[in-house]
Amino acid sequence: MARSIGADRVIDYTQEDFCQNEGRYDLILAVNGYHPILDYRRVLSPEGIYVQTGGSMAQIFQALLLGPFISMTGSKKMSSLGTVKQNQSDLLFMKELLEAGKVVPVIDKRYSLSEITEAFRYLGEGHARGKVIITVEHNNK
Ligand SMILES: NC(=O)c1ccc[n+]([C@@H]2O[C@H](COP(=O)([O-])OP(=O)(O)OC[C@H]3O[C@@H](n4cnc5c(N)ncnc54)[C@H](OP(=O)(O)O)[C@@H]3O)[C@@H](O)[C@H]2O)c1
Repeated sequence: MARSIGADRVIDYTQEDFCQNEGRYDLILAVNGYHPILDYRRVLSPEGIYVQTGGSMAQIFQALLLGPFISMTGSKKMSSLGTVKQNQSDLLFMKELLEAGKVVPVIDKRYSLSEITEAFRYLGEGHARGKVIITVEHNNK
């Protein structure tokens, strides 16, 4: 699935620890993950950027509390999406990327509102491959 939306190289986290290989990364978008923040810092390229968007509570707090200090001590930048202010121009930029097919949303499953318990159970298993959608049908009768 990752390859189908444009990834040139995919690392299976159950088989290989990317912090142990020789790779150096310009951008780490930490959607899920459980490494200490200093592991991510080590594998960033000299001007690399790390942005935490999800993952374990430890990962979230480390990015929020330690990220600003780490960013002040060198050329690598570490931050959390939680501190970003969303604005209209960013949303319009995302709209352009989506319309141009440069960003492809991946929808794993769709549930109706009455199936919401099942949707949360599925999401709670932690292996959804993309977004899980709840469809709210409007009944105008
Ligand atoms: N900041 C925000 O605005 C925002 C918004 C939405 C979600 N989030 C956060 O983003 C994260 C992802 O959410 P999600 O909706 O995509 O659902 P999710 O259930 O957290 O993600 C499932 C996916 O993550 C993979 N995965 C699980 N553990 C991993 C690991 N240690 N390393 C790499 N991949 C791993 C799973 O792959 P396998 O099936 O192969 O295990 C699966 O493809 C969550 O932590 C969520 O809280 C943040």
